Amino acid sequence: MTESKWLQLDEKAQNILIKNDRGGFTVPTAGLYPNQWNWDSAFAGWGFSTFDIERAWQELESLFAGQWNNGMVPHILFRSNDPDYFPGPDVWGTEECGPISSSGISQPPVAATFVRAIWEKDKTIGNNRLKKIFPKLKAWHKWFMTWRLTDRNCIFISHPWEAGRDNSPDWDNAMRAINPVGVGEYTRRDTSHVDGSMRPTQEDYDRYLWLVQRGRKLKWDEELMSVNRPFEVADPTMTFILLRASRDLLHMATALGVDNDEISEWCSKLREGIETLRNPDGGFFNAINCQTGEHSGNITSASFLNWYAGIDDDETLKILTKTLEEARYPIPSLSINSEKFDGMRYWRGPTWVVLNSLVGVGLSEMGYIAEATLLRKRTQSLILEKGFAEYFHPIDGTPGGGDSFTWTAAVWLAWASPSNGEY
Ligand code: DGY
Repeated sequence: MTESKWLQLDEKAQNILIKNDRGGFTVPTAGLYPNQWNWDSAFAGWGFSTFDIERAWQELESLFAGQWNNGMVPHILFRSNDPDYFPGPDVWGTEECGPISSSGISQPPVAATFVRAIWEKDKTIGNNRLKKIFPKLKAWHKWFMTWRLTDRNCIFISHPWEAGRDNSPDWDNAMRAINPVGVGEYTRRDTSHVDGSMRPTQEDYDRYLWLVQRGRKLKWDEELMSVNRPFEVADPTMTFILLRASRDLLHMATALGVDNDEISEWCSKLREGIETLRNPDGGFFNAINCQTGEHSGNITSASFLNWYAGIDDDETLKILTKTLEEARYPIPSLSINSEKFDGMRYWRGPTWVVLNSLVGVGLSEMGYIAEATLLRKRTQSLILEKGFAEYFHPIDGTPGGGDSFTWTAAVWLAWASPSNGEY
């Protein structure tokens, strides 16, 4: 790619972040996602940090402005009650729980890692900001360790939306066991923005809403919700990401000179828990239905997050090599050889550059420069050829979901763009 080409893409990506800025926070994309989403926002902060550090801090700070008293940081902050999004605040019913109207579940905690990256870019600006945000990050991690830790020390999700990989086949077994009686009539808005073939099915949505209605009935009280949970799946996304983020938190605690024993203990526990996610037949990391102990058997992009969490693994390296040989584009959200593969349906096949950036960062940190470079170069060509879409078909690159997408632009700026140099 020529320099003028990539500089043009840098500018385009910056403009997407600026266009999706709603005054101190960004929306993932206009129309389909008109609110502030948790991990999208953290990625946006990473992207902003390449050209506007002040704005990068604001993004993270605005996310933590919505933190609940119990430490949870919601997956959606309803900054405006846009009738074009469903389910909105009236469905979630969380008025009593936090300072900003929000959903009642969380999302993968990438924030501490991006806070560290933003702080390290300019510590003169960052030191004071870090001091303020650090206790909030720690409280959120503590919430995960209190309410989402399995007895085998991995992190489970209580709703498919919590993992951010909404309709991944990783949840199929647990979702099938839910009978969504009484969910009532409702109108989806997502399928008025993008074609239904790219979105979760109606059966999925009935269950998503049924779980939301249960939370609402229990007033989002974690203690009450933990009794006979209808959905509880140990998740590699959450476990690897929380471990990585806790390591970054530990680093920042040491720099700030504050007590870090508790964080250190979290890291050890999660490190121990990772091994339980290994599929006994395939050797790869996968999700486990906590109610039945059943492994999902799926190779997803989350299966390759071990390096990001600082864990080397020969078995996964073999599978990665094969995965990279099989496709022209970056790692798909589900192996193209899976019988459940559906190349355009959200998290059941498409390639998401966000997950690939995390895998790439992990690989390069652990010395797998060739693999990391390949992922990065493929991401560059994909964005160059197909634009800043939400996700892409992993075989032919067709763009899917929303366009002018915040986190695709952010990943371009902070990781994929050649402006970041070579590894
Ligand atoms: C959606 O609305 O599709 C979101 O992914 C839920 O968080």
